[in-house]
Amino acid sequence: MRTKIVAGNWKMNLNASTSEELLEGISIQIAQNKPNCQIIVAPAFPLLQLALEKLKQTDIQVYAQDMSEHISGAYTGEVSAQMLTSLGVKGVILGHSEQRQYHGQDDEKIGKKIKLALENNLTPIYCIGETLEQRENGKHFTTIETQISNALFSLSKEAIQKVILAYEPVWAIGTGKTASPQQAEEIHGFIREKLAQTFSLEVASEISILYGGSVNPSNAKEIFAQPNIDGGLIGGASLKAEDFSTLCYSF
Ligand code: PGA
Repeated sequence: MRTKIVAGNWKMNLNASTSEELLEGISIQIAQNKPNCQIIVAPAFPLLQLALEKLKQTDIQVYAQDMSEHISGAYTGEVSAQMLTSLGVKGVILGHSEQRQYHGQDDEKIGKKIKLALENNLTPIYCIGETLEQRENGKHFTTIETQISNALFSLSKEAIQKVILAYEPVWAIGTGKTASPQQAEEIHGFIREKLAQTFSLEVASEISILYGGSVNPSNAKEIFAQPNIDGGLIGGASLKAEDFSTLCYSF
């Protein structure tokens, strides 16, 4: 049985007091009835410590939104894998389309980060997805295949099983436009098939693949019900305690 996951990507939102309020809200809702999924929140770097402290007594895991590809040293402004592990952070979102777009991150660099994260006991959530132009030109399958083969296919069978994937079509992020459950399932099935060809059917069937892009309480149930969709990476709706909690009960 694959782990079902709901992960909140807070992006560059909230501050110390508003994140405290949000975490309290989520904890209260979740405490009443344990959801049947792993919950993750990914605050910005300065809020990690606070989130770890606030969530100490819960099963909610704290992830970072990115990390450096370097181990340590003269890299002003960067945050290392080891720093995250030393705080108690459990994983890291890597290759988010906003990082690819605004910080020129490519598959090779992201692949390096994935290896470094794994070496430091951090679970990577590897984000992939096509742009609107790529979809309109019928390039969505090749785009996805390139992204996964460049960054993941050199991993060992043991390592790949520790990776979470997130399919996030760029045209659906923060736009209110979701991929239809069928469109998302088609890509998720394709990703799993490629993983099975490269690693094995057994390995591929154990890897959680999340969908991300305008998931909200009214569309989550249908999306999460698809056979190859194991949960969601949530942006906007992760900033409201009630919405985020509702998503955690949408399986
Ligand atoms: P969204 O963001 O839910 O606001 O579309 C998803 C993401 O970027 O991870």
